[in-house]
Amino acid sequence: MKFAISALTFASLAFAAPAMAQDATGDAAAGERVFNKCQTCHVIADAEGTVLGGRNAKTGPNLYGLPGRAAGSQADFNGYGPDLVALGTSGFTWDEASFVEYVADPAKFLKTRLDNNGARSKMSFKLTNAKEKADVWAYIASLSPAMEPEAEGEAAPAATN
Ligand code: HEC
Repeated sequence: MKFAISALTFASLAFAAPAMAQDATGDAAAGERVFNKCQTCHVIADAEGTVLGGRNAKTGPNLYGLPGRAAGSQADFNGYGPDLVALGTSGFTWDEASFVEYVADPAKFLKTRLDNNGARSKMSFKLTNAKEKADVWAYIASLSPAMEPEAEGEAAPAATN
């Protein structure tokens, strides 16, 4: 069969529909449960400070707007290690592929990306399950701002006033 659609393609199509899904391959609803493991340290809160995910933890950076954001660049967080900041300063930004690699082993990720065996991470937590990693990325992406104006669903009223 030539036109078999892979599970991944199907998932991206399914999740491409809402304006905010940002091409994630995982299941955002399942990812909300996975985020329970992150929320002791991380919140997802928008620019106004409205908590969208988690409970306002400040041990780690706010993960709002993570897709496309430079590593180590969340302005309100001052607990970054120098190696993650150095990676971001070099021009690195988060996408799904790098995120799943990072959360599996943050220290190893920094060593590899910076080509420096002495690189250290201030995040000691590891998430290795492939489905959980994709799902939690989808969840974070679903709460982050869309790259384009929203076209439907929860779009702001068209009327200007
Ligand atoms: C024990 C606390 C803790 C837990 C649990 C934790 N993190 Fe972190 N996380 C941190 C800290 C601290 C940093 C900053 C790392 C650094 O500066 O090296 C960080 C950084 C990150 C970054 C980089 C953000 C940026 O601004 O560049 C991502 C992405 C991330 N964490 C995702 C997750 C996810 C997803 C989970 C749950 C699966 C999770 N973390 C669980 C503490 C935690």
